[in-house]
Amino acid sequence: RVRMITLPAEQRSPGKTGSVGAASADLTTQSGSIHGLWSNRWAFVLAATGSAVGLGNIWKFPYMTGQNGGGAFVLVYLICIVFITLPILMAEVLLGRRGRRSPIFAMAAVAREAGCSVLWSLIGWMGVVAGFLILSYYSVIAGWTLAYVPRAATGAFAGGEGPAIAALFDELLASPGWLTLWHTLFMVSTVFVVGRGLQAGIERAVTWLMPGLFIILLGLVAYAATLPSFAQGVDFLFTPDFSKLNAEVVLKALGQAFFTLSLGMGAIMVYGAYLPEESSITRTSLTVCAADTTVALLAGLAIFPLVFAHGLMPGEGPGLIFLTLPAAFGQMPGGVVIGTLFFVLLLVAAFTSALSLIEPAVAWGVERFDTSRAKAAAVCGLLAWLLGLATVFSFNLAENYKPIGGMTLFELLDYLTSNIMLPAGGALIAVFVAWFMRDEHRRAELRTGAAVLYPVWLWLLRIVAPVGVALVFLQAIGVDLGLP
Ligand code: TRP
Repeated sequence: RVRMITLPAEQRSPGKTGSVGAASADLTTQSGSIHGLWSNRWAFVLAATGSAVGLGNIWKFPYMTGQNGGGAFVLVYLICIVFITLPILMAEVLLGRRGRRSPIFAMAAVAREAGCSVLWSLIGWMGVVAGFLILSYYSVIAGWTLAYVPRAATGAFAGGEGPAIAALFDELLASPGWLTLWHTLFMVSTVFVVGRGLQAGIERAVTWLMPGLFIILLGLVAYAATLPSFAQGVDFLFTPDFSKLNAEVVLKALGQAFFTLSLGMGAIMVYGAYLPEESSITRTSLTVCAADTTVALLAGLAIFPLVFAHGLMPGEGPGLIFLTLPAAFGQMPGGVVIGTLFFVLLLVAAFTSALSLIEPAVAWGVERFDTSRAKAAAVCGLLAWLLGLATVFSFNLAENYKPIGGMTLFELLDYLTSNIMLPAGGALIAVFVAWFMRDEHRRAELRTGAAVLYPVWLWLLRIVAPVGVALVFLQAIGVDLGLP
């Protein structure tokens, strides 16, 4: 059976590693995956942009910008994107396409090809685990968004009184039943789409949803541009106040640059595994990165003028989207329509990201157990759903349960994944591609004749990316770097 032949033999029967000879360790002739391929490079660009554009852009980026002083944070974030995470994005796509399998088996295959230890497949394992952990809480937060769509549409924010809006939010968080219901709906939809297949599921969903997302976002920015406070919003985002910069802000910006591009856990790698042979990794990666950055900036341009127009504060923190913005929607004319569109936008962004969070595990399940995609998706979804209950309860029944570092279960999951697992995965990916992979194989995937840009990319990956990540990592585990 074709499906069996394309799998790394030692994974099926550990005793038979000998059957993977020098010839089969060569990935040069491999041009497809058992999961199929994207129809064309645009499908990949849309799917990867769908993965990248998520709660990170529309919820986290604006509130972090607000909390960390506006323009200076944005500037550092942009520098991190260009010099650290964009090169890693390319490296992850490259590894995926070279390996043509789920991150676990892809890493085993490329490591074998490079003559390195199969232990490198731990990157894939860590990725699959991180995917479950992130998806488990991502689905709960996305569930809030799901709850906010009907609220916005039925005028629940009318009047825009701060305390009334805070009460609505608290009421949702206090109810394990409602949180679980919305979480379940979101997870079932994710499983349904991923289970249908690569082209019939993920590709079709992003083909419809991503253009919709862009249209809604542009509409919201156009609205914001009509407000007298638009200039204030632009100023807040783009005029750096360097006195606001310190080591912590820099490191937060770097962490955000990772999260927003979905790096370090194999989501982009598995999408890269489905990238057709003739598509350019450089060009598609640049497009994804540019689209993701544009969406984050546009989200800022849509949100801050609203916040300023209603005399609200940009530094609200995580509540900016669920507390501050609804107050603005409740006060403005047409707020029902604008508010509904906004939460639909957030929902679409979260949904297309969730597809990529579960895909590495689903692809691995199909390869490892030779089962159908639908079954693999259902099992993975069920596991992530169960784990998600920990996040649900961390807002109510278990809100005082803080096992480590004074963090609730939800905060712990977010901290462990965003601050530790993703940077570690990203650094390992950079180090593997830049220091261990054979140059001819890197060049074969990038098909580069670019004499100047290739070494720039390589050295960014060799030095700048791992060192940058090491700094975030040290900061995350609480080492005092003694920086200003
Ligand atoms: N990038 C998404 C966001 O900005 C979240 C996300 C999806 C993600 N897949 C990921 C983050 C993989 C890290 C790793 O919301």
